[in-house]
Amino acid sequence: MEIIRAETAGFCFGVDRAVRMTEQLAREGHKVATLGPLIHNPQCVAALEAQGVVTADSVESVPAGYEVVIRSHGVGEDVYAALAARGAEVHDATCPFVAKIQRIAAQAGRVGAVLLIAGDEDHPEVQGIVGHACGEVRVFAGLEALEACSTPEIREKPAFVVAQTTFEVTKWLESTKFIKKVYTSPRIFDTICSATWARQQEAEELARRCDLMVVIGGRHSSNTQKLVRVAGRYCRTLAVETAAEITAGDFAGVRRAGVTAGASTPSSIIEEVLNKMSEVVQNEEMSFEEMIDQSL
Ligand code: F3S
Repeated sequence: MEIIRAETAGFCFGVDRAVRMTEQLAREGHKVATLGPLIHNPQCVAALEAQGVVTADSVESVPAGYEVVIRSHGVGEDVYAALAARGAEVHDATCPFVAKIQRIAAQAGRVGAVLLIAGDEDHPEVQGIVGHACGEVRVFAGLEALEACSTPEIREKPAFVVAQTTFEVTKWLESTKFIKKVYTSPRIFDTICSATWARQQEAEELARRCDLMVVIGGRHSSNTQKLVRVAGRYCRTLAVETAAEITAGDFAGVRRAGVTAGASTPSSIIEEVLNKMSEVVQNEEMSFEEMIDQSL
């Protein structure tokens, strides 16, 4: 079995920056809490907790005296205000690409435009963007939801359109096509992160020439699950968080396997999965040779 690793697999710039910032603070002896899990990867979060980093569910649950890291997804204005009210020292790891969308959201309100966000309304990044808007906002997860929220009244308003940085590229293209057709004066900001474009494109290219794709990443990682969907359109696709989930049976009859990973998957986990896959291949080859020996 041939194994091909995607060049784009693993940490993106924003996640890498957030993890390094938090690790450095912990190393320097700061008492640090993150607002929510720093990234959507349980193994990485557990490793940070082992270094003394606390994961707080809310501003209220940040232990007294702890400094707070805002993760790459960003947060709304209300959260900054609540942290300031508590006097907490803040280390802002909001990804600069997300911060740009937050500024567009604020600008939409200032000029009286409705803000259309392509994304998952339950995702922290989208909630953070909404938290910077000061006017009318609509969030849609795909074309169907966009059509439903595009009432005649909304279509006639000036509209600013943005996407969650990890939004699925094909869905974005069909949504913006619809918006250009029916909205009176839309301003479309292509805010899907280039890291997302690159990962999804490479996943598609790999999946087209493989019998099996292995996508590594957290089950709650939105960008990982999108890679699973993209790859799954072209070949059998296995979603795993760690090497422990891989069995020899997964690769029966597979001649070429592709491996990619979400933007929040540490390289150590990718290496473990690749090693496990290589072991499976070696064991298969050995048992094949044993079979030949026995038949001679
Ligand atoms: Fe930032 Fe793009 Fe990663 S928005 S957090 S570099 S996926």
